[in-house]
Amino acid sequence: MKAWVARMTEEHPDEDAIQKAGEVLKSGGLAAFPTETVYGLGGNALDAAASKKIYAAKGRPSDNPLIVHIARMEDLETVARNIPENARKLAEACWPGPLTMILEKTEAVPYETTGGLDTVAVRFPSNKIAQALILAAGGFVAAPSANTSGRPSPTTAAHVIEDLGDKIDCILDGGMVDIGLESTIVDFTEGTPMILRPGYLNQEMLEKILGTVKMDPGILAEQPNTRPKAPGMRYRHYAPKADLTIVEGPEKEVVSKIRELAGQQMAQGIRVGIICTDETRTEYSGGDVKSIGARSDEASIARHLYGILREFDDDHVEVIYSEAFDTPKMGQAIMNRLLKAAGHKRLKV
Ligand code: TXA
Ligand code: MG
Repeated sequence: MKAWVARMTEEHPDEDAIQKAGEVLKSGGLAAFPTETVYGLGGNALDAAASKKIYAAKGRPSDNPLIVHIARMEDLETVARNIPENARKLAEACWPGPLTMILEKTEAVPYETTGGLDTVAVRFPSNKIAQALILAAGGFVAAPSANTSGRPSPTTAAHVIEDLGDKIDCILDGGMVDIGLESTIVDFTEGTPMILRPGYLNQEMLEKILGTVKMDPGILAEQPNTRPKAPGMRYRHYAPKADLTIVEGPEKEVVSKIRELAGQQMAQGIRVGIICTDETRTEYSGGDVKSIGARSDEASIARHLYGILREFDDDHVEVIYSEAFDTPKMGQAIMNRLLKAAGHKRLKV
């Protein structure tokens, strides 16, 4: 099977293609679509067989639960129950948007979708193409990121085609995503709300709405051995083919350390990649040097992270050195993904 692809923009959605993709989902098929975070691989969330197909297409372990996407506030009640007041408050403030909430599931949601759990992850994306597709599909779309398990999440339709082009029915191509990192996941099933996966919405922003919000100790970069609560955060995700090391410290020292290490590797004939920023681009000469974006614009760093990791795979580099990106708002989310890609290999200078 080769997926059909329909190109469109949020401003000019292709209504016919969206309806057709909605029919695909209603009849148990799989459709990839853009969201504001990353591309999703959608199937009907209330259909156990569709969820099984999603796991098979991604090559994903079936104990790693899927996120149920909705496009109407009132549809939350169909998939979740005993919804705490602060969860409603957060939904009111952040939906539609890059927020996923973990809640108690209803009978409507099959265990195939929740990986056997009694809780369900729910998200109401802001992307207009995603919303139209969810409604065309009947309101409930299970969607993990549309990558092969273990590869960086897709931020363009080309990434989806690369991984899944012959495994799914269709792809709605809405161009490059906005944010580039997956949604913030907040767990409401154990008292104080807890962030299970950092994203565009950070702890400080959530605390302004909810008061105290905890951070799952398992996702803090300093503690790679503590078990994260979200099953998906336990796998070594986002893994580039090359051996990636993150070099941290003051900019000048980082640059000179990366130059030194890259030089040593290249002297041995090893193909080296370097992830730098617009600010430091001219400091590097040898190797496959890629700027991820500008430190003065952290959103650009988040948007380009996964694409750059894929480019290095295509370039067949063997070793990658990356600067660290502890930026003010999304630094925690960016470093969480980068550290996972590096298998927590970091060097402090
Ligand atoms: O931004 C996003 O959230 C994207 C787009 C497509 O919406 N989706 C996405 O899905 O990132 P996925 O499957 O790649 O990641 C879902 C994460 C996994 O880490 C999974 O373990 C966790 O959510 N998760 C899902 N249901 C859960 C539950 N009931 N309890 C704890 N973690 C859960
Ligand atoms: Mg994923």
